[in-house]
Amino acid sequence: MERTLSIIKPDAVRKNVIGEIISRFEKNGLKIAAMKKIWMTKQEAKGFYIVHKDKPFYDSLTDFMSEGPIVVMVLEGENAIAKNREIMGATNPANAAPGTIRKDFAENIERNAVHGSDSPETAAFEIKYFFSELEIF
Ligand code: CMP
Repeated sequence: MERTLSIIKPDAVRKNVIGEIISRFEKNGLKIAAMKKIWMTKQEAKGFYIVHKDKPFYDSLTDFMSEGPIVVMVLEGENAIAKNREIMGATNPANAAPGTIRKDFAENIERNAVHGSDSPETAAFEIKYFFSELEIF
C-alpha cells in the first residue's frame, strides 16, 4: 500500500466540485486515509512549494494557492502516486487526456484544479506538511 498527498485547489473548491473529484479517486480504488479543508497563508503555500522557489511561476502559484480554501487529503492504495497522477491528467489541461480531472475542471496550467505528489520522497514531505500520523487512518 502506498500513500500520496492530494490537494483540491482553490479554483476547484470555488466551482463546488469537491465531491465530484473525491468520487473519481474512490471509483478508481483509492481510499481517503485523511482529509481536511484549510486556507493556507502565502507563507504556508511558499513552504509547501519550496522545490519551485526558483521557478518564474513561484510567486503567482503561491498567491493562487493562498487565495481561498483548499481540501488536502492523503490517498491510499496500490500504486497510489501513479494512479492519482493518471486520474488527475497532465499538469497543463490542454495536454490532459479526456476523462481526467484536469481535462474536466482545470482552467489553465496554473489553475489546474488538483495537486498530487510526484514521487515517494515528495509524498513523504507533503503528507507530513499537513498531517500528523495520528490523523491518518
Ligand atoms: P502542481 O501539480 O501543484 O505542481 C506545481 C504547480 O505549479 C502546478 O501544479 C501548477 O499549478 C503550477 N505550474 C506548473 N507549471 C507552471 C507554469 N509553466 N506556469 C504556471 N504555473 C505552473
